[in-house]
Amino acid sequence: MRKVIIAGNWKMHKNQAESLTFVQEFKSEVEDTQENQEIVLCAPFTSLTAMSKNLHGSRIMLGAQNIHWSDEGAYTGEISGSMLAEIGVDYIIVGHSERRQYFGDTDQTVNLRLKAAQQYGFKPILCVGETKEQRDAGETEQIIITQLKENLVEVDQSNLVIAYEPIWAIGTGDTCESSEANRVIGIIRQQLDNKNVSIQYGGSVNTKNVDEIMAQPEIDGTLVGGASLSASSFARIVNYQ
Ligand code: 13P
Repeated sequence: MRKVIIAGNWKMHKNQAESLTFVQEFKSEVEDTQENQEIVLCAPFTSLTAMSKNLHGSRIMLGAQNIHWSDEGAYTGEISGSMLAEIGVDYIIVGHSERRQYFGDTDQTVNLRLKAAQQYGFKPILCVGETKEQRDAGETEQIIITQLKENLVEVDQSNLVIAYEPIWAIGTGDTCESSEANRVIGIIRQQLDNKNVSIQYGGSVNTKNVDEIMAQPEIDGTLVGGASLSASSFARIVNYQ
């Protein structure tokens, strides 16, 4: 059975104090979620240590937003798997479109980061998705198939989550129709050797549209940006109906 995984991607939001305030409020609101469901908070690096201590013994898992493929070296601004392992992180977001767009991640570096995450025993959340121009040009399927093919070279599909995040739906309020997200996620699944990989949808998920999104048969969870910044709204998303 595929796991339901609801993850918040805080991006570059929340200092340490704000992160801990969130955790305190959020913890009590998500105690009774279903057993087959994982809840993940992907926080900035500076919040991870304090959050890890605070989440100890709770069922909320911790995620980072990047990982380098080397264990150490002259890579200013990057972070390694051994550094993250010391903190006690469970998940790593890899290949988010913001990393690809603004920080030069390519399909090849995304592949290296994915493999590094797995080597350290983390579960990577691989993000794929098309731009508005690519969608309008009818290239969605091809773009996603190519991303998967190149990103997943030698990647272990038994320890992997994928997020379909159409770039035009991120932070725009312009959610992808749930039936269309379901269709594309079905195409993603067809490309995989392991059909039990959990595949999330991400892009303007909020308290109003989450129930409809989660009702789709191919969609196994959500990767939530803006609406994960408030404990009450993210708790409502986790407790979708
Ligand atoms: P929003 O939910 O703010 O659209 O962000 C989605 C996202 O990029 C999650 O990784």
